[in-house]
Amino acid sequence: MDSNDVQADLKHVLYTREEIQQRINELAEQIDADYQGRDILLVGVLKGAVMVMADLARALNSHITMDWMAVSSYGSGTQSSGVVRILKDLETDLMGKHVLIAEDIIDSGLTLSWLKANLLSRGPASVEICTLLRKPEAAKVEIDVKYVGYDIPNEFVVGYGLDFAEKYRNLDFIGTLAPHVYE
Ligand code: XMP
Ligand code: MG
Repeated sequence: MDSNDVQADLKHVLYTREEIQQRINELAEQIDADYQGRDILLVGVLKGAVMVMADLARALNSHITMDWMAVSSYGSGTQSSGVVRILKDLETDLMGKHVLIAEDIIDSGLTLSWLKANLLSRGPASVEICTLLRKPEAAKVEIDVKYVGYDIPNEFVVGYGLDFAEKYRNLDFIGTLAPHVYE
C-alpha cells in the first residue's frame, strides 16, 4: 500500500462533497430567512472551520463580513478544562454586530461554550453558532447551537477542514480513518 495515498488511509466516507454542499445550502437558506436582510459577521475558528466558512459564506445571500480567531485549550492531559487561550483574536469590533460563529465540529462543547461567552461580553447584538458536525454523545456542557449540519456518532472524523496530526484537512468529503493510520 502506498503511504502517500490519502484514500488508503480512510475506513469509510461519512458525507460526500455533494451531501455537504447540499446541507450547507440548506443551512444558508435557513440563516438568510432568520436574519431577514441584516448584516452578519461570520467568525471562523481556525483552522478547522476554513472549509465550512468558505462554502457557507458563498451560499449566503445576506451581506456578510468575515473574521477569524485561533484558540487553544489550556492544560495538558486528556481532559479539556474548557479554559481557552486566544492565539489570534478578531480584528473586528463586535459592538452591535450580529455574530455567527462558523465551526467544523462540536465535541465536548467546552471550546465553543467558552468562545460564545467571550464574544457575548464584547457587546454584539447577537451571537449564534453554525456547525457542520456535532457529536451529541460527547457533550459535556449544554450549549445552544442554532444551526447544525449533522449529528454524528462519537468517532474521530477527518476531511473538509478536520485533521489528524494536521493532515487530511484538504479532503473535500468527511471520512473516518483506517486503524493503521493511528496505530
Ligand atoms: P470541544 O471543546 O467541543 O472541541 O471538545 C472541539 C474541537 O476538537 C477537535 N475535534 C476533532 N477534530 N476530528 C477532528 O479532526 C474529530 O472527530 C474531532 N472531534 C473534536 C476540533 O478541533 C474541534 O474544533
Ligand atoms: Mg475546530
